[in-house]
Amino acid sequence: MKQVKIFDTTLRDGEQSPGCSMNLQEKLEVARALEKLKVDVIEAGFAISSPGDFESVKSIAEAVHDCTVASLARLNIKDIDAAYNAVRGAADPRIHVFIATSPLHMQYKLKMTEEQVLEKTEKLVAYAKHYCSNIQFSAEDATRSEPAFLAKVVDTAIRAGATTINIPDTVGYTTPTEMHDLIAYLVANVENADKVDFAVHCHNDLGLGVANSLAGVLGGATQIECTINGLGERAGNASLEEVVMAMRTRPDIYPNMPRIDTKRLYNTSKLVYNIIGQTPALNKPIVGANAFAHESGIHQHGVLANRSTYEIMTPESVGITTNKIVLGKHSGKHAFDARLRELGYELTEEELADCFEKFKVLCDKKKTVSDADIRALVTHKKRIVENTKCTLDRFYVHASNVLSATSTVRLKLANGTIIEDAAVGNGPVDASYNAVRKLLNPPAHTLEKYSINAVSEGKDSLGEALVKIKLEDSDDLISGRGLSTDIVEASILAYLNAVEKII
Ligand code: KIV
Ligand code: ZN
Repeated sequence: MKQVKIFDTTLRDGEQSPGCSMNLQEKLEVARALEKLKVDVIEAGFAISSPGDFESVKSIAEAVHDCTVASLARLNIKDIDAAYNAVRGAADPRIHVFIATSPLHMQYKLKMTEEQVLEKTEKLVAYAKHYCSNIQFSAEDATRSEPAFLAKVVDTAIRAGATTINIPDTVGYTTPTEMHDLIAYLVANVENADKVDFAVHCHNDLGLGVANSLAGVLGGATQIECTINGLGERAGNASLEEVVMAMRTRPDIYPNMPRIDTKRLYNTSKLVYNIIGQTPALNKPIVGANAFAHESGIHQHGVLANRSTYEIMTPESVGITTNKIVLGKHSGKHAFDARLRELGYELTEEELADCFEKFKVLCDKKKTVSDADIRALVTHKKRIVENTKCTLDRFYVHASNVLSATSTVRLKLANGTIIEDAAVGNGPVDASYNAVRKLLNPPAHTLEKYSINAVSEGKDSLGEALVKIKLEDSDDLISGRGLSTDIVEASILAYLNAVEKII
C-alpha cells in the first residue's frame, strides 16, 4: 500500500478563517515547524489573493527544503501565473488549481455549464502544467457533485497533466461511508487513476472531518488534507494531529501511516495556538489539557496497574513529557538545557544563555517552574524579533472602580535616554497603552485583538499577552507578545513589541 501523504493547509484554509490570520514572520515559523514535523506538502497560501499572500508563499517556498510547497489558484491564467511565480523557488513547487463541479455551484456561483467546466479544466490544467510538473486539481464541492460528471472532470484533469486529484467535502456535508464509496468509485472508474494520488479534503461542519478523511483513505485516497488544530473555515478542517494519531494507533486498519514525526505534534499544535492567541478546549483530542488525564478512581487504578488498560496511545508519542523532576532556582544550566531538549527544543548557545537568565528571574517569582512555563519562555523568546528601539524600564498603574485608571510608563531608548509619560484610560491596560502612544507617537493604527492567557496553573502563573494591531492604510495585522507574571506588564510588553514594528 502507498504511504499516505499529509498535505497541510494551515497556512491557507486555516489562516483564511476569522481570527487566525498570521504575519509573514509567523507563517515562516509555522512552515519551518511543519517541515520538521515532516508533512509532505505545505499549502503556503493563495498567491493571487493579496501582495502579502504572494510574498509569504514566495518566502516559504524559498525557506523550506524538505517538502513540496503549493499555492492555490482558481482555474484562470492570472491566478495560475501568480501561483507559479510564488512557488517557483521551492525545491518541489506545486500549483493547486480548483473549480467547482456541483450543480449548485456551477449554476449559481460559476454560471457555467458542465461542458464549459470540462473545457476550462482541460485548457487551464494544461496551462499550469507548462510551468511545472507537479499539479494538483481540486473539484470544489465534490461531495455534492454528480459522481459520473465528477469522474469525467477528474479524467479530463488527469489527461491534461494533473498529478494529484483532490476530492473536497467543501461544506462538511458527506459521511464516512459516502466518502469511502465516492473515492472507491473514482479510483475504479477513471482511467489512469493509479498514476495519480487521490486526496481528501474534509471540512468539519458535522464533526466528521477526521472520520471522513480516514474513510477516504480506506476507499483508496493516498493524500489527506488537514490543518494543525483543525483550523479552517467555519467549523474547520480535519485536524492533522487527530488524523495522524488515528492512523498510528490503528496500523491494523491503516498500515500506510504517513511519515510524520508524531513526537513533534504537541509543540507544533502549541505554536499555532500561541500565534493565533487561542488555547485548545480541555477535551480536544491529542493536545487538550485533559487528553491524557485520568480522573476517575477506576481508571487511575487500571492505569497504575498497566497503562494500556485506559491509554490507547502514550503522551510521549505526541511529544508530551511526563517528567516529574521539578526545576527551580537551584537548577543549573545543564539541567535546564536537558529539560529543553526533552521538550523538543534545540537552542543556540546564545538563545540558551538568554532563556536561562529569564528562567532564573522567573524562579525568584515562582516556587516551581513547570514545563508549560519553560515552553512559554522559549516560544516567546524565539518568536520575538529583537526590537531595539526601546525597552520597558518601569511602569506604575493605579486602577480602581471609582476613578479612571492612570498609568505612568518609563521607557529606555536604544541610546540610553529615559522617557516617561502618564495617561488615563479605561482600565490599567488602556491607560498604559495611551501612555505608550504619547511616548512613541506611532503611526495611526487600531488595536484589532488583545488577549491574555495563563501559561500554567496557579495565581502566580506566567501571563502571555497577545496583541494584533492594524495600520490605517493596510490590511496586514502586526502582532506583539509579552510574557510576565504581572498581566499588566505582559500587556505593555506585547503592545510595545507590536508598536515598535510599525515605527
Ligand atoms: O474546501 C475546499 O473545497 C477548498 C478547495 C479550494 C480545495 O478549500
Ligand atoms: Zn477547504
